[in-house]
Order: sequence, then C-alpha cells, then structure tokens
Amino acid sequence: MAERQIVNYGDPVLREVAKPVEEIDQEIKDLVSDMVDTVKEANGLGLAAPQVGQSKRIFLVDLSAVDMTATLKVFINPEIVETEDEIEMEEGCLSFPGIFQKIIRPARVKVRATGLDGNQFEMVADGILARAILHEYDHLEGKLFIDKISSMARTMLRGRLRKLSQAS
Ligand code: NI
Repeated sequence: MAERQIVNYGDPVLREVAKPVEEIDQEIKDLVSDMVDTVKEANGLGLAAPQVGQSKRIFLVDLSAVDMTATLKVFINPEIVETEDEIEMEEGCLSFPGIFQKIIRPARVKVRATGLDGNQFEMVADGILARAILHEYDHLEGKLFIDKISSMARTMLRGRLRKLSQAS
C-alpha cells in the first residue's frame, strides 16, 4: 500500500458531495489502507476520502498523535445522529497546510457508520474526537472549516487562501 497525494484547498473535489459506498470491495479496502498510510505520514488527526481525490463517503479519525491510547477508526457512509451543545476549538486541516482557526461546533456527537468489516456501529464522542468526526464529516458534504470562520478572519486569510488555491 502507499500514501496518496493530499489535495489542497482550491481543488474542486473538496466541494463535491461525496457518493455513498455501495460495497466494501477490494478497491475500497485499498483506498482505506492508503488513507491510513497517508494520515500517519502527515501526522493528521483525520482524513476524508475527498482529500485524496476520491469523492466517496469515507473518513478516518486517528487521535494517536495526541492520545497514545487512541486507535484509528474508519467511518464508511457515516450519519450524524445527534449533536449537543457548542464549543469553540482550534482546528486545522491537511488540505490547508499551516492554517489554524478557532471554530464553533457541537461539543458532543452521536454518529452511526459502517466499519471496514461491514458492520454498522454507533459512537458517542466529545472533546477532540467529536471535533475530528464533525470536521471530517463536513468534508463528505463538500464543506470546509473556513466556511465557519468570521468574515474578518476570512479577510485576514484571503491572501494565503488565494496562494493555496493557485498552487493546487
Ligand atoms: Ni479537513
């Protein structure tokens, strides 16, 4: 297996609504395996399939960089079942190298998804895990974290965002 190229802001695939996975076949297993290699190499906390150019409803969350007891989790065809409260936390994104912004999102989330083994599971999360799940889920909807920042913050980032999108 191998790392894949992470696409940066400006690539239209990041704005597509990703397509459901019909069957967890070898192609999907290979994609997930490559995504695991890619997120580990990038030291990311999560990665969604559109970020490697695949418009499919898959993301993974890997908090092992910040929590040694955490294990990598794969979410296929995820659904957000419910959310609760709100909290502001700093976020980054592998498709926006070097850009970190404070973003308000729900504090807790209940998510339902299919695992790589084909079994459906539900998970309730808070803290960084909830944050990562909500951030990655947004990628499957074609939404990006900069959509949630203030217009003033966006103005301040304008030059860097332009540079990123021109380079992609
Ligand atoms: Ni991201």
